[in-house]
Formats: sequence, C-alpha cells, structure tokens
Amino acid sequence: MNHELIHVRVEAEKVGVITLNRPKQLNALNDQLMNELGAALKAFDADATIGCMVITGSEKAFAAGADIAAMAGYSFADVYRDDYITRNWEQIRSIRKPVIAAVSGFALGGGCELAMMCDFIIAADNARFGQPEIKLGIIPGAGGTQRLPRAISKAKAMDLALTGRMMDAAEAERAGLVSRVVALDKLMEETLAAALMICDYSQLATMAAKESINRAFEGTLSDGIMFERRMFHALFATADQKEGMDAFVNKRKAKFKNA
Ligand code: CAA
Repeated sequence: MNHELIHVRVEAEKVGVITLNRPKQLNALNDQLMNELGAALKAFDADATIGCMVITGSEKAFAAGADIAAMAGYSFADVYRDDYITRNWEQIRSIRKPVIAAVSGFALGGGCELAMMCDFIIAADNARFGQPEIKLGIIPGAGGTQRLPRAISKAKAMDLALTGRMMDAAEAERAGLVSRVVALDKLMEETLAAALMICDYSQLATMAAKESINRAFEGTLSDGIMFERRMFHALFATADQKEGMDAFVNKRKAKFKNA
C-alpha cells in the first residue's frame, strides 16, 4: 500500500514501525494521515508475523495536534455529520496487538491523544506533552479529557487542559503518563528492544493482557476482574501456556507458536 504522510517498515521481521511524516507541519494530523495510519495499523494487526507495532514521529515532533488549518473552516454541521475524529482516529482502538508510542518532541493536542491511544508511551528526554486546545477556543476531542485524568489524575489533567501549558518528559514520567524516559538518541533502540521482547511472547497472551488491562479503564472493578479471570482461565487452553510453563520447569527458553 502507498503512503504519503507516513513511512511504514518492518524491523527484525516482526515489529511494524510507523513513522508520521508531515515534517513541515510538525506532523499535524489531518484526515489523510489518520486514514493512512489506520490502514497501516490494521494491515500489521492482520499480519501473523507481526507481534507488536510502534508509532513514532520526528525528533522535533511526535505530532503537534490535529491539523488546525484543516479544522479552521469546519462548521458544527461538517464535524457532526461527518463524525470528525471518530471516523478514522478511532480505528486505533480496534487494534488488538500491542502498540507502543515512541515520543520525541511535541506531543500536543491530538498528538498527545494519539500517544495515549497507544498501549504505552516511551518518551525521549526532549518530549513535551500538552492539551493546548483551550487556546483555540475548543477542548480536546480525541479522548484527552477521558484518558488524561485516568493516566495522570484529575488535578494534572485539569491543569493541562485549562491552562494549555506543556509538561516535560520528567514531569510526564512522574505523573505516570509515560512508562519510561530515555535519551533522545536511544529512543528507537529502547523502544525496539521493548517491542522485540513483546514479540517473543505468545501473541495470544500479549493480546489477552492488552484486552484485560484496557478493561480497567472502561468498566467496574468487579467486571474487570471477572474479565481478567476468564481470560486467564482461557489461556490454559493454549499450547503456548504448556510451552511457557514447561520451558520454565525444564530451565530452557520458551518457543511460542501463537497457538
Ligand atoms: N496544525 C497545523 N499546522 C501546525 C500545527 C497544527 N496543529 N502545529 C504546527 N503547525 C505548523 C505551523 O503552522 C507552522 O507552519 P508554517 O511553517 O507554514 O507557518 C509549522 O507547523 C511549524 O510550526 P511553528 O512555526 O509554530 O513551530 P514552533 O517551533 O515555533 O512551535 C508549536 C511549535 C509550539 C508546537 C506550535 O507549532 C504550536 O503551538 N502548534 C499548535 C499546537 C496545538 O494547538 N495543538 C492542538 C491542535 S487542536 C487538536 O488537536 C484537537 C483535538 O483534540 C483532536
């Protein structure tokens, strides 16, 4: 498939890497880019050889938000009728394999929201996160008002969304938005190392872990625990569970077959 606004490559024959590529606009997210991103993620998700995906941007910007120039002329009728955001951004929610955001530079507005739609964020030390939509007379529209308070507390979410200020990588790590901060020149190396670890596990187990953890954000604790318990039980029906436990007991490295 041809892509203009993203670059797509496979690392080590098992990690699908998508690089956002609108450098002049600091990777501002327009419809074409989001359509291409959704299609690329879906293609990797359907490819049995791919165990994990990475979304990244440039050193200067992961993404500086939804494309303000494109949005400037939209009316309520345009965005409501055409289901702006939902129509293509939400595709990422249907991806079942793990997706890591490797963030350097600005991750603002929709860029921060895109990073939060990924399963976890590894940040370079120059990363800056924020929800500056308030400065434009709008509010976050790609899940920021919901995911941010779940990730970093109501207080910090309110602070960011109401003042529009940016948070640096150290503050983002302290607040729990990012799982780790690494030196800028080590961002891809560290992210790929994490992705490769994930690829070596059973895809059935990594998908089940992702699905179960996501339940923690969407329902009650008792429903989430029940979902987790049933997924845990179900994995005992897989050959990979037998392989993983036999390998441990016999002190050898497990070879998972995703079955
Ligand atoms: N949309 C469209 N174009 C953008 C953009 C965006 N979100 N962010 C940056 N650009 C463009 C700029 O217009 C500029 O283009 P020109 O060279 O043609 O003038 C180019 O990218 C470089 O930007 P700057 O000159 O502004 O670069 P800077 O280093 O001085 O500042 C910045 C960087 C602080 C990120 C600044 O560009 C900025 O504030 N960008 C907007 C951030 C923002 O408000 N994001 C939220 C968007 S709304 C949203 O995302 C809604 C939602 O929830 C879905």
